[in-house]
Amino acid sequence: MGQSVLMPAGYTRRDGALFCDGVALDTIADRVGTPVYVYSANTIRNQYQRLAAAVEGLPVHVHYSVKANSSLAILALLRSLGAGVDIVSGGELHRALEAGFAGSDIVFSGVGKTPAELERAVRAGVRSINVESEGELAVLQDVAHRIGVVAPVVLRVNPDVAVDTPHPYTRTGERGMKFGIPLDRVIAVARAMSHMTNVKLIGLASHIGSQIGDATPYALAAKALVQLKREIESENLARLTTLDLGGGLGVTDDDGSSLDLRAYADALRIAAAEPGVEILIEPGRFLVAESGVLVTRVLYRKHSGGKEIVITDAGMNDFIRPSLYASHHAIDSASSDAEPTLRANIVGPVCESGDFFANNRLIADVAPGDLLVLRATGAYGYSMASNYNSRPRPAEVLVDGSRFAVITERESDADLTRRETFAPDWIED
Ligand code: LLP
Repeated sequence: MGQSVLMPAGYTRRDGALFCDGVALDTIADRVGTPVYVYSANTIRNQYQRLAAAVEGLPVHVHYSVKANSSLAILALLRSLGAGVDIVSGGELHRALEAGFAGSDIVFSGVGKTPAELERAVRAGVRSINVESEGELAVLQDVAHRIGVVAPVVLRVNPDVAVDTPHPYTRTGERGMKFGIPLDRVIAVARAMSHMTNVKLIGLASHIGSQIGDATPYALAAKALVQLKREIESENLARLTTLDLGGGLGVTDDDGSSLDLRAYADALRIAAAEPGVEILIEPGRFLVAESGVLVTRVLYRKHSGGKEIVITDAGMNDFIRPSLYASHHAIDSASSDAEPTLRANIVGPVCESGDFFANNRLIADVAPGDLLVLRATGAYGYSMASNYNSRPRPAEVLVDGSRFAVITERESDADLTRRETFAPDWIED
């Protein structure tokens, strides 16, 4: 790694103004407009290095979960650091290949892969298809047979491990949830696979949830996978070389507690102790969340029913996490480090009462025209943005030291209607 990794990274104030590494956020807002997502390349590098240092000496390979932030420049940055990727759709496969990843760098997860997506992934030579159901396995066998290959399969197990995350929507590892193959079905599936010609069982996976602050559930999942691996191997059904423990590592700047990386590495060690296995992990949020902020301009203030309301030019279409998960993101003024004195609801312009970033929050006393900054929005921010209310999606900017670049242009109004027609081309049935 170059010297830059050692430089102080992230967000600091100089004379009151908030900087992302060497660039003032108000400079970016003036040049690129608002709302705009800004990411610090150094913070992503630092997070990657922190994780790499924590698992040093273990046979661990990082497969960044593309869904957290799927912009090509972010993918290319993570590729340059040595990461592979975890994808969940044909669209993410397209992005990963565009960003320069090889098939062998890619694992394909997801509970509802279509036959066409499976075919594209197999043709791309992905490292593994992480199969989540017996039905999917049958479709994959057909697809691989038709194109004359043997597809490498990792079975995603539902290990029946509960996690305590800030919101129920981000828990995935308990019985009855839609994810993975139930624990008590895995051996039967492995037995069935040993008679299938075009799928080869190479490993087991689990992903128990997102924004996990405690390493204990990872240890439980690792133990469940190890136990299953031993059963499968003792029956000579397959020789397993991959144990994939998924993502979910919690970070601080949001409302969850951050994961103790040492305890996490100890949990991985349970799986790594099996001879001849490579451990895969699929962090998304951990690598990118804290690198990013959403910069938005205050449009108006109003007073209603005893409440102060601050209306910003970003809305729930740009950043949906507070509306969807009641997530907490720190909100700062971009230009002033004055003590926060205003208690207000910070809301967007979208025509929904659920369009808010914070309620009853103490922030700097802002006026129309001022910039506000929502922290820790580098993960599941832009990648979950929509065009609701026919609002073009914002721009994305990457900062690297004292330089910045637009990595995703702001959408235009023309982009909104480009694939539509006002004169339908009817097809007679
Ligand atoms: N691997 C698999 C199979 C996953 O489903 C996920 C996330 C990850 C890895 C990465 O998880 P991470 O390390 O980022 O926690 N939209 C929600 C998060 C949903 C996560 C879905 N799966 C949010 O904004 O909190």
